[in-house]
Amino acid sequence: MENINLENLKIETFSINHIEDVTSIHSKVLDGWSMKGLIGDLANQSTESYVAVYEDRALAFCSFIATDDAELVFICTHPLCRRQGVGEKLLREAIIALPKTVNSIVLEVRSQNEPAIKMYEKMGFVTLGKRKNFYSFPEDDAIVMELIKGGVMELN
Ligand SMILES: CC(C)(COP(=O)(O)OP(=O)(O)OC[C@H]1O[C@@H](n2cnc3c(N)ncnc32)[C@H](O)[C@@H]1OP(=O)(O)O)[C@@H](O)C(=O)NCCC(=O)NCCS
Repeated sequence: MENINLENLKIETFSINHIEDVTSIHSKVLDGWSMKGLIGDLANQSTESYVAVYEDRALAFCSFIATDDAELVFICTHPLCRRQGVGEKLLREAIIALPKTVNSIVLEVRSQNEPAIKMYEKMGFVTLGKRKNFYSFPEDDAIVMELIKGGVMELN
């Protein structure tokens, strides 16, 4: 896939029009997510879901449970578009787009998932703790991270 010009990457609210692209990304990511669960999460009314669109194609997606203490449920970039700033731009703009009542964002991430952990740290998430053996297939600990929102978004 060609180099991404981030200026032309648009962050949009997830809609039915993005399902085909999201499904295609999902099929390339073999980490055990169920398709039914994924689409259910994206379309669920209690989640806020966003996509990063480039040349009319969704290249990344993310989803939050947006209570006052929101939770990032997942984020994923197309495997051929990684390390070009797509995930970071999506996450930054999605967090800013969340309802103003959201005070903090928590997430759980596999302790072996260095790309994701580095991205979260770069954006100012801090580690709250660890849940031992939280994941299976393969077994792994979960790192719990949090980003506190102030009156103004405190992103790094
Ligand atoms: C985590 C993920 C979403 C990052 O998306 P991405 O579009 O590649 O990320 P970006 O290019 O925006 O990178 C942003 C920052 O993250 C960190 N990062 C991303 N990939 C990295 C890697 N392979 N190694 C180390 N750091 C990495 C870096 O700090 C990077 O900033 P930099 O390039 O200025 O150093 C992507 O790797 C992915 O889809 N992984 C599979 C799904 C997943 O594990 N999701 C998270 C748990 S739900």
